[in-house]
Amino acid sequence: MNYVQLEKLGEGTYATVYKGRSRTTSEIVALKEIHLDAEEGTPSTAIREISLMKELRHVNIVRLHDVIHTESKLVLIFEFCEQDLKRYMDTHGDRGALDLNTVKNFTHQLLTGIAFCHDNRVLHRDLKPQNLLINRRGELKIGDFGLARAFGVPVNTFSNEVVTLWYRAPDVLLGSRTYSTSIDIWSVGCIFAEMITGYPLFRGRDNADQLSQILKIVGTPSDATLAQIKMNSPEIQLKTPLTKYPKQPFHSIIPKAPRDAINLIEHLLQFEPTRRYDAHTAMTHPYFTAGPIAPPTIPASVSSSTASLALPPRVAQRASQASAAVLAQQQAQAQQQQQQYVQAMQQQQQQQQQQQQQVAAGGYYDPAQMQAAQAQAAAQAQAQMQMAQAQAQAQAQAQAQAQAQAQAQAQNVG
Ligand SMILES: Nc1ncnc2c1ncn2[C@@H]1O[C@H](COP(=O)(O)OP(=O)(O)O)[C@@H](O)[C@H]1O
Ligand SMILES: [Mg+2]
Repeated sequence: MNYVQLEKLGEGTYATVYKGRSRTTSEIVALKEIHLDAEEGTPSTAIREISLMKELRHVNIVRLHDVIHTESKLVLIFEFCEQDLKRYMDTHGDRGALDLNTVKNFTHQLLTGIAFCHDNRVLHRDLKPQNLLINRRGELKIGDFGLARAFGVPVNTFSNEVVTLWYRAPDVLLGSRTYSTSIDIWSVGCIFAEMITGYPLFRGRDNADQLSQILKIVGTPSDATLAQIKMNSPEIQLKTPLTKYPKQPFHSIIPKAPRDAINLIEHLLQFEPTRRYDAHTAMTHPYFTAGPIAPPTIPASVSSSTASLALPPRVAQRASQASAAVLAQQQAQAQQQQQQYVQAMQQQQQQQQQQQQQVAAGGYYDPAQMQAAQAQAAAQAQAQMQMAQAQAQAQAQAQAQAQAQAQAQAQNVG
């Protein structure tokens, strides 16, 4: 293989993921190894789906560079991301909860990625924090794509991680097999709420418990609504009638959430799938459009450019005093970056609207549309990268300055 296998990054339902380095370019990648059952042979559906994923290029979708297929295993070569969202929340959040700017930014990136998938007739079906990746530029990338469908029912022999029910839509819990984009939107709603509170919104032990937890919060739908759901998905068979629960106001469940966030969550977590917002509609909600979307907070441990500047405690104290002077300069720079970021976002939103108008009704994969979207994604990626680079540079500059001043002061003292 053309890649050196480095440390293990994670283990999921289907595969083991390692960090890897290209022998030719030294590029750091993620190697996702899927062991193949000798008796099953080559899962041709997997190969077909993976080759489609190779075309699904967007800044908010983890990039599949290559696929290596041998007799015993399938190795998918992905772009490397520093952390998944679960670990990011565990390590950088306030007991798991992220600051509200970062929540808004990540939710917007998640919706942007999902809108692109849905526009291209791809359903993710397993959105959860472990399957969302965050790189050191603060970009959120949807990962672990379509494999659930490609590989059928997960065999779960490579790890003991249980397929989680926590992000599963109630219609799917009721037995619906009429898949549509609304199942991903439900998961987005759950992840959105979880980023605000720091813990999963619905944590069912099993299918029935998961459904009952949902009913206790969103309320049991009326008989008319249930009849509508069953008409759209005739495969749903209710053995016993659903227990009647009143709806709880979301602001009592997620008190920290601002009012417009609560309103958006209400639209994402609709029991009846056809009433859920689609990704594009969600992105035009006032929660996102009323003001600029600030860049996410990128902790020093994720952005490697600042990690090497760690100071010993006594010097760090001096540095923090000295850094007050450069703080003003930093803030001015941050403001400027934010303006650039907002401009890039607005441009992107405009392009998206144009693209939306162009999207044809049918077709699983439209190369022309994909190309336009790719160009747009590339432009957005470049804008974001420039913003992040400027931010990192400003940060490093400020810290170096603070460090120099602190050292000068420390020398004076010592
Ligand atoms: N591109 C990547 N960069 C860094 N870590 C990754 C990457 N892809 C996956 N991981 C890590 O490996 C874990 C399992 O990968 P995933 O693709 O979700 O596999 P599975 O299908 O087995 O769940 C993820 O939760 C994440 O922590
Ligand atoms: Mg996974």
